[in-house]
Amino acid sequence: EKGGHDWFMLKEIAEQPQAVADTLLGRLSDEGDLVLDEMRLSDQELRDIDKVFVVSCGTSYHAGLIAKYAIEHWTRIPVEVEVASEFRYRDPVLDRSTLVVVISQSGETMDTLMALRHAKEQKARVLAICNVNGSTIPRESDAVLYTHAGPEIAVASTKSFLAQIVACYLVGLILAQVRGIKYADEVAVIVRELQKLPEAVAQVLTQMEPVRELGRSMADAGTILFLGRHVGFPVALEGALKLKELAYIHAEGFAAGELKHGPIAVIDEGTPVVVIAPSPRGRSLLHGKVVSNIQEVRARGARTIVIAEEGDEDVVPYADHLIRVPRTPTLLAPVVTTVPLQVLACEIAATRGYDVDQPRNLAKSVTVE
Ligand code: M6R
Repeated sequence: EKGGHDWFMLKEIAEQPQAVADTLLGRLSDEGDLVLDEMRLSDQELRDIDKVFVVSCGTSYHAGLIAKYAIEHWTRIPVEVEVASEFRYRDPVLDRSTLVVVISQSGETMDTLMALRHAKEQKARVLAICNVNGSTIPRESDAVLYTHAGPEIAVASTKSFLAQIVACYLVGLILAQVRGIKYADEVAVIVRELQKLPEAVAQVLTQMEPVRELGRSMADAGTILFLGRHVGFPVALEGALKLKELAYIHAEGFAAGELKHGPIAVIDEGTPVVVIAPSPRGRSLLHGKVVSNIQEVRARGARTIVIAEEGDEDVVPYADHLIRVPRTPTLLAPVVTTVPLQVLACEIAATRGYDVDQPRNLAKSVTVE
């Protein structure tokens, strides 16, 4: 049933190219138009939206953080992202022209469900991104965009996360399309590049043996830090969450620019620091800054593990371990850069002798507030 893998989590990691492909399937026409009629929101309703909230928990919250970068950039509509357990208790400003996107793999998370109900009471439109057909969250939402990741058994979300990120891109692109931004060069390129993602994820998966070996060598770490900027920041948060929940090792994700404002003080001789490098020089203004951050932590004794695009030579002198990912447009990079972090957490947990699929204290769906 685990398809020859030791854990469901490994099986689900391996299924990610399919999860991404299936989530795109039938939703992009040959002309690059988005076909999302299933979503049940008219073009006019989508055009009326002047503000977006993304509300979710855990890994689904990290997908929301990535959505913000993409949706704001493509549409210029302001996007706020919030954990569901905080959302309704601070009386957020919502009205008919607000779109609240709730993201949930299970569709049963109580915090997210309560946030959704609050949004509906305030007359906002609610769109669910969900992996389980007919579950409570999509049933109570005005609109739904299903992720087609297939059943996810392991408690740790993997393939559903990649599918959620893809669904968020589709939401951004449909909002751009109804506003007539679709022919803007960048959006047209993104539509083409989205179709290449399943292949890119498959390519990353062929290079995971050195990552597993690296994981085995990190199993005794007392703390592991993750750094990223821009869309690499939510990926860093996700890498740290996976490690905490599976390996029970203290881990934190930071925006790399925040390092000098405090966290750098915890770095000690041998502290593993995983860095998600942005697109190389020339394609991201942030690349040079992240290279400096890698130098800074290394100068304080950190063992640096750098995830960088193929061909990015600037990071090479400062990486104790280098993990390569294929070239993608910056905003799409989380779909590939997340994968090694999943494998790393899984391997560290397995080396420590833990049950990867059923970590202590956790349940697959959290149905209490
Ligand atoms: O089913 P949901 O997406 O609503 O679940 C949200 C979180 O509980 C979930 O992502 C949790 O953080 C996972 N264990 C992460 O691996």
